[in-house]
Amino acid sequence: PLVSMKEMLEEAKKNRYAVGQFNLNNLEYVQAILQAAEDEKSPVILGVSEGAGKYMGGFGVVVAMVEATMKAQGTTVPVAIHLDHGSSFEACAKAIHAGFTSVMIDASHGEFEENVAVSSKVVELAHFHGVSVEAELGVVGGQEDDVIADGVIYADPKECQELVERTGIDCLAPALGSVHGPYKGEPNLGFKEMEEIGSAASVPLVLHGGTGIPTKDIKRAISYGTSKINVNTENQIQQAKVVREVLAANPDMIDPRKYLGPSRDAIKETVIGKMREFGSSNQA
Ligand code: G3H
Ligand code: ZN
Repeated sequence: PLVSMKEMLEEAKKNRYAVGQFNLNNLEYVQAILQAAEDEKSPVILGVSEGAGKYMGGFGVVVAMVEATMKAQGTTVPVAIHLDHGSSFEACAKAIHAGFTSVMIDASHGEFEENVAVSSKVVELAHFHGVSVEAELGVVGGQEDDVIADGVIYADPKECQELVERTGIDCLAPALGSVHGPYKGEPNLGFKEMEEIGSAASVPLVLHGGTGIPTKDIKRAISYGTSKINVNTENQIQQAKVVREVLAANPDMIDPRKYLGPSRDAIKETVIGKMREFGSSNQA
């Protein structure tokens, strides 16, 4: 069923595993990720950035596509449709009214007081609709859609606790050195801060930039209360690799089903690997 992230993440935190957020780019992603979740008996979060939502024809199309696919595949595991890096109250409201079950308000780029104010406003509307809310503090490096960050700014543990208490958000993404897209060298995550934030803040933590983080760091993050890990780039890399291989081997191929089909299998396998690594398999 379609649900918010709230219970999903509380369960994950309690039982020390993380639920993967896998970002959607088109129909093949919806099919691959939902089938992976069902096969693995894993809860799952479908992440939709504003840019990807626009690409797929709008939030309403995304919700319709997900609902229809769940029905067609006979999905029984808990699924959340989550706005990823919502840039404003308006964007979150649009997603909520389109039927998203969860939203992220990313007001991490402005002043702290502004972050508190807009996150609170989103929480008020979202909770009225039974929708969960994620907020962010600090700056995740790299680029995702139109969100570009030059440097990385670590979240301040005191501010994290204050943001959680003053807004009523359901989960918090403290930026602690993670990066969107591939890492240059080994990631250097702020585990000392993560441990502090994880024990002070009562809510589950979210780790952005899940692509390229070694398993030992994933396990450590989970042990400090990280209950949601976002992955997008890894699926894109594996998808593109298969499309390139198939087209290179078959220069006359034009039927999209013949190259997108195999790449859909690659996305599914990648997602299954992450679910096992995050420990969410067999938890639904
Ligand atoms: O919000 C989405 C994620 O943080 C994705 O990060 O593309 O590096 O896997 P990634
Ligand atoms: Zn992110």
